[in-house]
Amino acid sequence: MDQQQRWTAVDEYLNDALVGEDAVLRAAHEASAAAGLPEIAVAPNQGKLLHLIALTMGARRILEVGTLGGYSAIWLGRALPEDGRLISLELDPAHAAVARANLHEAGLEKVAEVRTGRAADSLAELIDDAEKPFDLIFIDADKAGYPEYFTLALELTRPGSVIIADNVVRRGRVVDADDTDPNVVGVRRMHELIAAEPRVTATAVQTVGVKGHDGFTLIRVLG
Ligand code: SAH
Ligand code: DHB
Ligand code: MG
Repeated sequence: MDQQQRWTAVDEYLNDALVGEDAVLRAAHEASAAAGLPEIAVAPNQGKLLHLIALTMGARRILEVGTLGGYSAIWLGRALPEDGRLISLELDPAHAAVARANLHEAGLEKVAEVRTGRAADSLAELIDDAEKPFDLIFIDADKAGYPEYFTLALELTRPGSVIIADNVVRRGRVVDADDTDPNVVGVRRMHELIAAEPRVTATAVQTVGVKGHDGFTLIRVLG
């Protein structure tokens, strides 16, 4: 058994032992794959982590940047109270259509909304509209955009809000300051912005699992 096979086997064990991915989530995954969407949604145990963080915070308003087929959105939306709100931003109208159908199947159509367009534009619109602050923001769209998404997302928070950014390790490539891949450059630049930003405190954790070696950054808005 090589390393990746072992990581996958452990994720399967953990998901079976603890996570309880149900038929609705499995169907959302299958519908996304059937529609030809890339298989890059969060793993079940990562989705459950987002769900538990949102529940633990008592989040009532959640913003997601990068919807894909709505898999992580279902985990997040299920943490909301009946009068909660999830807004998820997606560039690709085909992805958004799959996500809306999956969120409907999950019974979340009343709390969850998918907005299409470039995330930077949608975030700027939310700021212009003086949208109420979000308790939790999950950044998971194109990694090149992360510096901009972090900067704009911060304007949509309040003291105590949490921002989580996915895929910040990229099989370890994040350590290479000379890597010119825009994804790597984007993540490193976001970390510089976070470090220089007096309004937040943050950490990052590397992970292994079915999605390989990666990690996430967790940012708390001070106050
Ligand atoms: N959060 C999802 C996975 C998101 S994958 C989950 O875990 O289930 C990343 C998504 O970001 C893709 O659907 C991609 O189309 C979208 N995306 C890429 N560039 C974008 C942009 N500039 N604005 C908004 N969404 C973008
Ligand atoms: C990619 C994007 C993701 O959000 C992810 O979790 C894994 C991979 C990608 O673009 O390759
Ligand atoms: Mg991701």
